[in-house]
Formats: sequence, structure tokens, C-alpha cells
Amino acid sequence: METRTLGQTGLQVPVVGMGTWQTFDVRGAAAEQNARAVVDAALNAGAHFFDSSPMYGEAERVLGKAIVDRRDQVLLATKVWTPSAQEGRAQVARALQFFGNRIDLYQLHNLVAWQEQLALLEALRDAGQVRAIGATHYSPSAFGELKRVMQTRRITAIQIPYNPLERDVAREILPLAAELNLGVVVMRPLGGGNLMRQPPTSAALAPLAPFGVTTWAQALLKWGLSDPRCHVAIPATSKPARMQENAHAGDPPWFGPEERAYVARLCIR
Ligand SMILES: NC(=O)c1ccc[n+]([C@@H]2O[C@H](COP(=O)([O-])OP(=O)(O)OC[C@H]3O[C@@H](n4cnc5c(N)ncnc54)[C@H](OP(=O)(O)O)[C@@H]3O)[C@@H](O)[C@H]2O)c1
Repeated sequence: METRTLGQTGLQVPVVGMGTWQTFDVRGAAAEQNARAVVDAALNAGAHFFDSSPMYGEAERVLGKAIVDRRDQVLLATKVWTPSAQEGRAQVARALQFFGNRIDLYQLHNLVAWQEQLALLEALRDAGQVRAIGATHYSPSAFGELKRVMQTRRITAIQIPYNPLERDVAREILPLAAELNLGVVVMRPLGGGNLMRQPPTSAALAPLAPFGVTTWAQALLKWGLSDPRCHVAIPATSKPARMQENAHAGDPPWFGPEERAYVARLCIR
């Protein structure tokens, strides 16, 4: 698995990590055991970067339980997501408890009350409990505001959607991130699963074999990771075998413009 420096955060991240939205919002012994098996598959494949949020129901708790005995082997990203200062502090207290009293990347989820919550995260960073601060948004309608937050230079990473059918960030956000040397975490690399509904045939994927790509998920992950402005993609899955499959997209060689255009064409068959 290739690693990259997550911009100014200085964190050395594997290019494939894992998200936890929906997939880790589970309860009960069997489901939590399955979540642990997904984390096992990620760690075995070198994909040791995990992203969560208090917005994802049980996900922070379930992820925390799955890594409790191996906290030093993982990088943990989570988020604060509330307009309330009091609830923000409560979310932080819960996350620190779930994740061994330190968070590697703490993000402003959807920029909710970002001025207020940024001050909270800065205090935690100054106290040594948070290594880096980022901001996330999924919607192009918020990218103007995201740019303003980036320009404050008070954050060192962003998390944005990027796949062949969602490329709004290519216009202004990725160029600005590169200019400011911000870390870039890619959410929705598989279009939230929508791009997986009708995968191309194996014959259509054959031209990508020289790039180590044997599945459609790997083609989509490699499409994003072949943009050098992106540092880590965080596909979510509830299946250990798929985590292993996704991690295989994290090795070079990377696509050039022709292969990226080819994958984009396969999306709009
Ligand atoms: N900050 C924000 O606003 C925001 C918004 C969205 C997402 N995120 C973060 O980004 C992460 C990723 O985004 P996402 O979860 O929306 O979407 P995604 O990773 O693009 O897609 C996830 C879906 O793809 C399926 N999948 C995963 N690997 C697969 C494979 N190899 N073959 C076939 N299907 C596969 C999963 O189903 P199975 O479980 O059945 O494998 C799941 O339904 C989230 O989990 C979250 O951490 C952040």
C-alpha cells in the first residue's frame, strides 16, 4: 500500500482507508464482530486510516471498540457536528473516550457552526489531544464557504466527494488545496455505492489490468487516487472481502489521463 503525506498535517497516510457511514452504524454482538472483521481486513491490507462522525449513529463507538487493543496501529479521523457549543464539547468527550484519548484528524462536519467548533478543536490541538484539524462538506453548494474556511489557514486538511460523476472540487477546491498544501481526504469514491450498481463487464475492465485493477471498485478508487492532489480515499464497506479488494487499489502504477478518461466513460454507459 502506497503512503502519502496528508499535506500540512504531516500525517503519513495509506492511500486507501475506510469510512464508516451506515456500514458501522450497527448494534449487537454479531454485527459488531463483523465490523471488527472489516477492520481486521483493513489492517491486514495496510489500510489503517479510519473516518467516522457522531452523525453516523453507533459508528464511532463500534469503530472504537474494534481498534481498542490496537490504537497505536491506526490513524483516526472523526468530526464534530452540532450547532451547540455544549453538545460539541460532549461529542469531543465521547470521541476521546472511544479513541484512546487522542484523535489524529478532527474535522468540522459539513461546516456546522464552524467558527465556534474550530475554536474548540484548536484548544484540543494546543492541549495535544488532536494532531490536525480539517473541514468536510459533501455539497458543491457549500464549496464557497469551504474555500473561505481553507483560506483562514486554520485547517490543514479537507474531506470532499470526488469520483468520475462528482468532480465539482476539480474546479476550485483541489487547486486551492494544492496551493495551500492541505491534506485531501476523498469521500464517496464509489459514489455512495451508486456507481457500483451496474459494474462494467470484465472485458471492459481488461485494459486496466496492467494497473493492477481487476474490479470496478478498484478502477473507481484508482481514478481518484491517480490525482496527485488527493492523499487518501475512504470507501465504506460492511464486508471484509470488499475491504481487502478496495485496499488493492492502493498500489501503483497510477492511471494517466487516458485511463482516467476511460474509467469516466465506463460510468456513463
Ligand atoms: N463529511 C461528509 O459530508 C461525508 C458524506 C459522505 C461520506 N463521508 C465519509 O466518506 C465515506 C465514504 O463515503 P460513502 O460511504 O458515502 O460512499 P462510498 O464509500 O462511495 O460507497 C459505499 C458503498 O459502496 C459499497 N461498496 C464498498 N466497497 C465495495 C466493493 N468493493 N464492491 C461493491 N460495493 C462496494 C458499500 O456497500 P457494502 O457495505 O455492501 O460493501 C457501500 O454501500 C463515508 O463512510 C464517510 O466516512 C463523509
